[in-house]
Amino acid sequence: MTRTTRSVAWTLGATMIAALAGTMIPAVPSLMSGTDAFAQETKRSKAGKQSKQAKQQEAWPIGDDIDDPAAWGKVFPLHYELYKMTAEMGRTKYGGSEAEPRTPTDKDPRTTVAKSKVDVDHGLRTMWQGYAFAADFREERGHAYMLEDQKYTKRQVVVNQPGACLNCHASTYLANKKAGDGDITKGFEKINAMPFSEAVKLVEHPVTCIDCHDPNTLALRITRPAFIEGIRDYKASQGIQNYDVNAQATQAEMRAYVCGQCHVEYYFKGNERRLVFPWAKGIKVEQIQAYYDEIKFRDWTHKETGAPALKAQHPEFELWSQGIHARAGVTCADCHMPKMMFKGANLSDHWVRSPLLNIKNACLGCHQKHDTNVTERELKERVEQIQDRHFKLREDAMEALMGLIEDLKSAKAAGRSDAELSSARYLQRRAQFYLDFVEAENSTGFHAPQEAARILGESLNYARQGQIAVRDPNFKPTVAIVDMPPPATPAAAPAPTAPPAPVAPQGAPK
Ligand code: HEC
Ligand code: HEC
Ligand code: HEC
Ligand code: HEC
Ligand code: HEC
Repeated sequence: MTRTTRSVAWTLGATMIAALAGTMIPAVPSLMSGTDAFAQETKRSKAGKQSKQAKQQEAWPIGDDIDDPAAWGKVFPLHYELYKMTAEMGRTKYGGSEAEPRTPTDKDPRTTVAKSKVDVDHGLRTMWQGYAFAADFREERGHAYMLEDQKYTKRQVVVNQPGACLNCHASTYLANKKAGDGDITKGFEKINAMPFSEAVKLVEHPVTCIDCHDPNTLALRITRPAFIEGIRDYKASQGIQNYDVNAQATQAEMRAYVCGQCHVEYYFKGNERRLVFPWAKGIKVEQIQAYYDEIKFRDWTHKETGAPALKAQHPEFELWSQGIHARAGVTCADCHMPKMMFKGANLSDHWVRSPLLNIKNACLGCHQKHDTNVTERELKERVEQIQDRHFKLREDAMEALMGLIEDLKSAKAAGRSDAELSSARYLQRRAQFYLDFVEAENSTGFHAPQEAARILGESLNYARQGQIAVRDPNFKPTVAIVDMPPPATPAAAPAPTAPPAPVAPQGAPK
C-alpha cells in the first residue's frame, strides 16, 4: 500500500471519531471524503491563499512546527487523554511497571522510579562489570517517563553520554528539523555529536503525536533517520535496493515500524556518535553478532575477564519479527494500541502498555474469531506459561555464563596469557550477547517463544564451550573465533582539537 492509501485509510477513522465524538473539524484536508489528502495538501500550498490558511489554522491548530501534545489534544481530546495515561503504572508477573517512591533531591527530582533490576539480579551486574549498566538499570515504564528517566539515570553520572541518546527518549522531530535548517538528517547528525547535557536543552516532550503522525493527514510516518537508514540496510540485505520506508511501507508495516524506531538494538558509530541500527546483514541475533564481529566493535572490555563485550538493548522489533504473530501480520499496535470504544468513540488505544493489563481489547477480539470459547484468563495463562518456561531457561543460561566468567577470572589470576584466553573470551562475548538479547527484550519470550528459546540454548552452549576452552587448549569450538583487537588507548585517540570530543570511552553506553 502506498502512503496515499494510508492517509485515506485513516480518513475513515477520523470521520468516525469526529461523528461519534460530535466534534466538527471541517477544514481538515484528510477529512475530505474520498479524496487524496496528499494531493489536496499540495494543491492547497500551491494556491497559497493566505486567508484560507489562517482560517484553517484556527480549525486545525496543529502543524509541522507544533509538537506540543496539548495543542494536538484540542483536536483529538480523547487520544490526548489516553496518551497521558502512560504515566500510570501497573505490574504483571514479569512485565508492566511498579512505582517505587523516592525522596526527590536537587539532582534528581523524581518522586517515583521503576524497580531496579541490577540490584535484584546479581548475574546482570556481574555480566556488565566495567560498564555503566552495572551502576543503574531499571524496569522500563510508560512513555510519559522516557525523558526524565533518561536524564536522571545514574548511567548519566558515571559516563558523559552523547546527544544521540535523545533519539528514542524525546520528541526529536522538531529539534532535528530546526538544528538541520529543515533537513532532519542533518539535524540528527548535529545533535548526535553534542554532549547530552547540551542536546537535552533542545527538546521538551517525550515521544508525541508529531513523531508518529503527519500533522495534516494524521497518516503514520517515520521521523527517525536511524530507522530510515536501518530498514534500508536491512532491505538491501534481502536484495531490495534503495528502500524508502515512508513511500513504500504498507499500512500494516507502519503499525510496527513506528515502534521499531526505538524498540530495537543499536550502537553509536564513530566519534560522531551516529545512532546506527546494526541490520546490514539481517535482524536475527547471529546476523547482528556477525555485523559487530566484522567491524570489530565492542561496547566495553569486561572488567574481570578482559572479554571484548557487547551490550544488547530492547530488540522488541527484531524478536517480534521472528514470531508467529508477525508471521500472521499482527503488529505492535494490534496488541499495544488495540482498537477500542472510549467514551463513545471507536479509536486506537493511545495508552501504550503491557497488553496483559488489557487482554480483552488486546487479545480477545482477535482470538475469539478463531475460538469463540477462549477466555481472558486462558490467554493470560498461556502467556505466563511461555514466560515461566522462558525464564527458567534464561536462569540456566545465566548460570552457565557466570561459570565461564568465574573460570576466566581464575585463569587470569593464575597468569594465563591473553593468547591462551582469547577463545574463551570470544565465547563469553558471544554467550553474553545472546543472553542479553533476550534479557533486554521486554516480553520475557512472548514475542517469539521458540526463537527466544533457540537463542538461550545457543548462549548456554557458547558459555559451556568457553569453559572447556579455558581448560583444553586443543578444543575446537563450534563457531569460528573472531580475533578482536584491543580498543584504541586514549593516547591513540584523535587529537582533542577535533570537535566534540567522544564522550563515552568506547561503544554505546546506554
Ligand atoms: C500478539 C501481541 C503482541 C504483539 C504483536 C507485540 N507485543 Fe509486545 N508484548 C506482548 C505481551 C503479551 C507482552 C508481555 C507483557 C507482560 O509481561 O506484562 C509484551 C511486552 C512488550 C513490552 C514490555 C512491556 C512491559 O510492560 O513490560 C514492550 C516494550 C513491547 N512488548 C513492545 C512491542 C513492540 C515494539 C512490538 C512490535 C515490534 C510488540 N511489542 C509486538 C504482546 C505483543
Ligand atoms: C521515541 C522512541 C519510542 C517510540 C517511537 C516508541 N517507544 Fe515505547 N518506549 C520508549 C522508551 C524510552 C520507553 C521506556 C520509558 C521509561 O522507562 O522511562 C518505552 C516504553 C514502552 C513500553 C513499556 C510501558 C510500561 O508501562 O512498562 C511499551 C509497552 C512500549 N514502549 C511500547 C511501544 C509501542 C507499541 C510503540 C509503537 C506504537 C512504541 N513503544 C513506540 C521509546 C519509544
Ligand atoms: C508511538 C506512535 C504514536 C504516537 C506518539 C501517537 N500516535 Fe496516534 N496513532 C498511532 C497508531 C499506530 C495509530 C493507528 C493508525 C493506523 O493503523 O492507521 C494511531 C492512530 C491515531 C488516530 C486515528 C484514529 C485512531 O484512533 O485509530 C488519531 C486521530 C491519532 N492517532 C491521534 C494522535 C494524537 C492526538 C497523539 C498525541 C496526543 C498521537 N496520536 C500520538 C501511533 C501514535
Ligand atoms: C489481530 C489478531 C491477533 C491478536 C490481536 C492477537 N493474536 Fe495471538 N495469534 C493470532 C494468530 C493468527 C495466531 C497464529 C495462529 C496459528 O497460526 O496457529 C496467534 C497465536 C497465538 C498464540 C500461540 C503462540 C505460539 O507460539 O504457538 C498465543 C499464545 C497467542 N496468540 C496469544 C495472544 C495474546 C496473549 C494476545 C494479546 C496480547 C494475542 N495473541 C493477540 C492472532 C492474534
Ligand atoms: C534506539 C533507541 C534508544 C536509544 C538510542 C537509547 N534508548 Fe534508552 N530506552 C529505549 C527503549 C525502547 C527503552 C525501554 C525499554 C527498555 O528499558 O528495555 C529505553 C529505556 C531506557 C531507560 C529506562 C530503563 C533503564 O535502563 O534503567 C533509561 C534510563 C535509558 N533508556 C537511558 C538511555 C541512555 C542514557 C541512552 C544513551 C546512551 C539511551 N537510553 C539511548 C530506547 C533507546
